Amino acid sequence: MTDIPLVDLTVHHEPRDFADRIALGFTKTLRFCADTFFAKRYGHRAIVLETVAAVPGMVGATVNHLRCLRRMCDDRGWIRTLMEEAENERMHLMTFVEVAKPTLFERLVILGVQWVFYLAFFALYMISARTAHRVVGYFEEEAVISYTLYLKEIDEGRSPNLPAPAIARHYWKLPDGATLRDVVLVVRADEAHHRDVNHGYANELAGLETDAHAAPYPVHADDLRQAA
Ligand SMILES: [Fe+2]
Ligand SMILES: [Fe+2]
Repeated sequence: MTDIPLVDLTVHHEPRDFADRIALGFTKTLRFCADTFFAKRYGHRAIVLETVAAVPGMVGATVNHLRCLRRMCDDRGWIRTLMEEAENERMHLMTFVEVAKPTLFERLVILGVQWVFYLAFFALYMISARTAHRVVGYFEEEAVISYTLYLKEIDEGRSPNLPAPAIARHYWKLPDGATLRDVVLVVRADEAHHRDVNHGYANELAGLETDAHAAPYPVHADDLRQAA
């Protein structure tokens, strides 16, 4: 691949208040659980975590959609952005399910976690949309770190650099010879974009300045936007 997406790996939103610290603490607790459960099984880790990652965008889009209907106001592009995020995360899932097959136990975990996480995130969004976006911002910081570690596993030969699944080549418009490494690079760029969008939304809702260095909208998503 010639077009390697550039990602700023150093972005971290320093917690500024109690809500930020709760969001970061919650994220670090989940990170600890994921590290304990999956260790270095990055393919399996990606599958289970992407089933969770695809939830907040749809919740945020739903709540904002209903709010805009009630208030008869403009959404400033939030709804489509959040729906695109949900779809993008689902494509991550569909890609990694081609790379690693979830075990029966993981499928059961996914079932249970989805019930709890959907309801909990919905409730959080209703109580504090700003904290909900901050949580996602921190989740995505962790996702960028996890995919960076996955890349290291591939580069150092501990994970096989398989050919990119057809669904990934189609979605990200990768060349025929693309590999799993190329896929992880574009997925990581997506996560960096979600990270910056969600921290940006949280900042906006908190009345803070939004970061001018946000990761750009991924090219594939731009295409989807234009086709819509
Ligand atoms: Fe993802
Ligand atoms: Fe993400």
